[in-house]
Amino acid sequence: MDTFVFNPYRRESPGWNDPVFAPFGNEDIRAFHSLLPGYRPTPLISLPALAPSLGVGEILVKDESCRFDLAAFKVLGASYAIYHFLRGRLAAHEDMAGFVRDLLAGKYPGRFVFCTATDGNHGRAVAWTARRFHQRAVIFMPQGTVAARIRNIEAEGAEVHIVDGSYDDTVRHAAEEASHNGWQVIADTGYGGYLSIPGYIMAGYLTLFDEMEGPIHQPDIPGVDLVFIQSGVGSLAAAAVWYYVHRYGMSRPTLISVEPTAAACLHDSIALGGGRMTAARGNAETIMAGLNCGTPSLAAWPMIRDGLDLFLAITDDWAVKAMRRYYHPSGEDSRIISGESGSAGLAGFMALMAGDALAEARRRLGIGGDTRVLLLNTEGATDPAHFQKVVGG
Ligand SMILES: Cc1ncc(COP(=O)(O)O)c(C=O)c1O
Repeated sequence: MDTFVFNPYRRESPGWNDPVFAPFGNEDIRAFHSLLPGYRPTPLISLPALAPSLGVGEILVKDESCRFDLAAFKVLGASYAIYHFLRGRLAAHEDMAGFVRDLLAGKYPGRFVFCTATDGNHGRAVAWTARRFHQRAVIFMPQGTVAARIRNIEAEGAEVHIVDGSYDDTVRHAAEEASHNGWQVIADTGYGGYLSIPGYIMAGYLTLFDEMEGPIHQPDIPGVDLVFIQSGVGSLAAAAVWYYVHRYGMSRPTLISVEPTAAACLHDSIALGGGRMTAARGNAETIMAGLNCGTPSLAAWPMIRDGLDLFLAITDDWAVKAMRRYYHPSGEDSRIISGESGSAGLAGFMALMAGDALAEARRRLGIGGDTRVLLLNTEGATDPAHFQKVVGG
């Protein structure tokens, strides 16, 4: 079932002064990404034919399926966190560009083993970064992970282990193995005693929003009214909140989180947890693998609670419809390759505009012919077999 909850805990002008948020204040984030081989901003695509068919004035899609050769946005976070970890350990005194050049040239080979739990995209990002910086990676994946995602991580030279359990079990298992073996955990979710690296990961995601400065985001005007952010543990949503709150304050666009109903930990925490983080109530069965997370990130939660406007929880059939809509565009619209989690933003928007269950939310938002919508296509076809089945069928 599709459900929604407006955020009663939202604040007009939230402030996050805790040192845990310090990474967000760094000005070197996009400069760091520009030093990585193959960096270029991902495209921002307008879909002029789709917009009127969904009753809005404009739809823009930030297409992360072209992020490096990785088909997902996640490397923005993993690379920035690993860079900061290595800098702290190896060369705090060196300037950023010199240090990154040294890392890429293999000046510090094999010093660290980076370890994480993943359903695919984040693990691939950790493995990709470890390889480029000449370090090792050990990646844990939950049982049931599709073979293509495992192969993509192994292709980056990482060691992959499958854990008999859910994503949350895998996170715990990776932490235990890392502490036992002296490996460094690079997790994209924060928990008690582990907040700094997820903070850098969230900060790394800011580049995605920063790249839209000029094309749409003007100094005083965000240029869009609604931003849909698909959420797993909420790190990406928190980065969006941080970016828009700091950049536009009270003139920020409406920020909408989209999750699968089966794993809607942000939605459920707001709707059922009284604004405190709670475990998702769903059965964790969803095709949106990257969003299949049972518990929000502790590092992201304050920003999510204070900054998001609306939480949508949608069923998988919307993701299927959205993947097809992106792949078989109408009129002159460009084709976009979007995987199950990548398409969730459009899926949430379609559910909001067409589904009976979300009609009240649609009405309250006052969406109309002038509304400008920003969607994030956070991944391409990361499960090619399922992708073909969906878009070909
Ligand atoms: C493709 C994709 N989109 C969105 C997300 C959600 O990000 P977060 O877990 O930070 O909420 C993920 C997480 O892995 C993902 O893989």
